[in-house]
Amino acid sequence: MNYPYRLLAPGPVQIPEYARQILAAPMIHHRAPQFIAELEQVFINLKKVFFTDEPVYILSSTGSGAMEAAIANTLSPGDRVITVDAGKFGERWAKMASLYQLKVETIHVTWGESVTKEQIEHALAQFPDTKAVLMQATETSTGALQPVKEIAAAVKKYPDCLFIVDAITSVLSTDLRMDDWSIDVVVAGSQKAFMLPTGLSFISLSKKAQAVMSKTKCANFYFDLKAEQKAYALKQTKFSSSVAEIRALHAILTKILENGISSLTSEIQKRARITRIGIEALGLTTYPTTPSPSLTVVNVPDTLDGKKLRRHIEETYNITFMGGQDQLEGKIIRIGHLGDISQEDVVASIEFLGKALNDFGYKTDWQSAVAKVLREYEA
Ligand SMILES: Cc1ncc(COP(=O)(O)O)c(C=O)c1O
Repeated sequence: MNYPYRLLAPGPVQIPEYARQILAAPMIHHRAPQFIAELEQVFINLKKVFFTDEPVYILSSTGSGAMEAAIANTLSPGDRVITVDAGKFGERWAKMASLYQLKVETIHVTWGESVTKEQIEHALAQFPDTKAVLMQATETSTGALQPVKEIAAAVKKYPDCLFIVDAITSVLSTDLRMDDWSIDVVVAGSQKAFMLPTGLSFISLSKKAQAVMSKTKCANFYFDLKAEQKAYALKQTKFSSSVAEIRALHAILTKILENGISSLTSEIQKRARITRIGIEALGLTTYPTTPSPSLTVVNVPDTLDGKKLRRHIEETYNITFMGGQDQLEGKIIRIGHLGDISQEDVVASIEFLGKALNDFGYKTDWQSAVAKVLREYEA
């Protein structure tokens, strides 16, 4: 196979060379002064990225760990919560909440669509004793962007209700302002717009969420954020820090903040916009009604098996895209826009998707699609 490998999934993502070098550097101890100084700066920079004045804790876990920490530290068995099931990750909130013996009310949203403020308002009016609303900012399984800002305003009207947002595929790629919008818990993960390997998760809690933290009755050891809070005061993490990843994160955040967060979010939005121009030029359509800029979800033509198509692209053209799960299995291709992605990568995603479709007998004019994409870049 002569093509260079391209990882264009919606996470994990391609890692910039300068971060890869740090990941490969000799190990230093997590209590060494050199590391503590870097960690302190990372803590400061994470607040900027989350648009919050509150601490952002770093956990050595995948994003789901921070989701679980959100539940275990702010809720108690028997509490009523509203979850939004607009895809696989919304389902995960409901599963976790049930496991923690919460009373779960689920708003089912047709996959590909976004929940509305009215649906949340209606559910809150029906269950005014709700202790938390849990949802995604970007539902990665469908590519749908959710109206977090509007919903935050609706939840704010209920003083005893927290708004908990899985922003794993949204922090740094969409506008998401924790303090200004009154989001109580924001969760993120390293393998998305942070451009790092999987393995770190981030969580920040509003003052309102911190206040309930001491009262929660959920048993929990590893994800005890009260312990994390104490360690944070000493500029440390509770357990051994993931030194290599955090040092790489330090470099990544420094660069992002030097260039401005909006420069990164605009770049991601540009990739999404140009990819969608290419997709349309291939004669294809996209799946979600309100797409997130973090990924483009393409409908696979009815006559084709999307699983075979995705595998063919990986085996023949050396590009990893993601497919769909459950009801979307074999029906969609998900193209990620996060990570260290060049213009060549975006062009390759259109060219090789087009060629692969041709290989399966579905005729596309990939040359003119590529020309359109290149024209957009020149413009
Ligand atoms: C929106 C969303 N939530 C949760 C997760 C789960 O994260 P992890 O696989 O890091 O546990 C993902 C992962 O892709 C995601 O996209």
